[in-house]
Amino acid sequence: MATEADERELRAHFEETVAADRRVEPRDWMPEAYRATLVRQIAQHAHSEIIGMQPEGDWITRAPSLRRKAILWAKVQDEAGHGLYLYGAAETLGADRDDLTRRLLEGRQKYSSIFNYPAATFADVGVIGWLVDGAAICNQVPLCRSSYGPYARAMVRVCKEESFHQRQGYELLWTMARGTAAQREMVQDAVDRWWWPSLMMFGPPDAASPNSRRSMAWRIKRHSNDELRQRFVDMTVPQADRLGVTLPDPELRWNEERGHHDFGTPDFAELARVIGGDGPCNAERVARRTAAHEDGAWVREAAVAHAQRRARRTDDSGVAR
Ligand SMILES: [Fe+2]
Ligand SMILES: [Fe+2]
Repeated sequence: MATEADERELRAHFEETVAADRRVEPRDWMPEAYRATLVRQIAQHAHSEIIGMQPEGDWITRAPSLRRKAILWAKVQDEAGHGLYLYGAAETLGADRDDLTRRLLEGRQKYSSIFNYPAATFADVGVIGWLVDGAAICNQVPLCRSSYGPYARAMVRVCKEESFHQRQGYELLWTMARGTAAQREMVQDAVDRWWWPSLMMFGPPDAASPNSRRSMAWRIKRHSNDELRQRFVDMTVPQADRLGVTLPDPELRWNEERGHHDFGTPDFAELARVIGGDGPCNAERVARRTAAHEDGAWVREAAVAHAQRRARRTDDSGVAR
């Protein structure tokens, strides 16, 4: 049992590690609230990667060419990989993967609200890559310097893949925007539908996000929701210009004085509704994930049986085979 003096020393060491921008590692002492905040954030992130496979996954069988199919397939598979790295990072904090999955399926843990919107046309595949993966990059690049080591390291790899995702989306839109009038219309329509939900990916405004401040003090998070939202808008506007699409915000303009774009306020009531379960596809997404989980039960059982057999053989001979 740690005495009070021990705990004070451990806490001081933790605070010093965070303040000096060093990494907290799985075996290090950490405050319980830090651990719980990380488990919640990493689990939510992992769930988002996995649920996020659905809107685009729907288009794999309907991709217009073999090249587009191969790209989309690789991209959706990457998202599964991101989910795996992140569940792995959560496990280093003592979280149990089955438990996290149950929480997702029972609606007790959230995933990003953005994946509750439908991908209506193939242009949506491009817009998801450009805007949704683009917003994810803005959120995740600073997480590469997060104070928790396994999370920060997972993010380095995730971000490299996200930048491929964003480029493939932009390249798809670039091709369509130089195609027929109908294709250009599809692109604009997809941008109109995804722009505001993408801005909502950064979460509620800072004033309504009390947990953010603590996450920033612990250096889990590096920038506030509103700072990241601004960064995303500033990054995206010139890309939209080059693409020749209009972002559906009449208040969007360059502010010389601030050196940033001014923009309208997303409908945060809609964000709250979608997070609360009442988005266009919430029920469908969770139902599909539940079915996939149940269909995969035999794979998990086989993997466990295989691991047990391997362990028994190791016991008998002293060598793993
Ligand atoms: Fe991802
Ligand atoms: Fe991605």
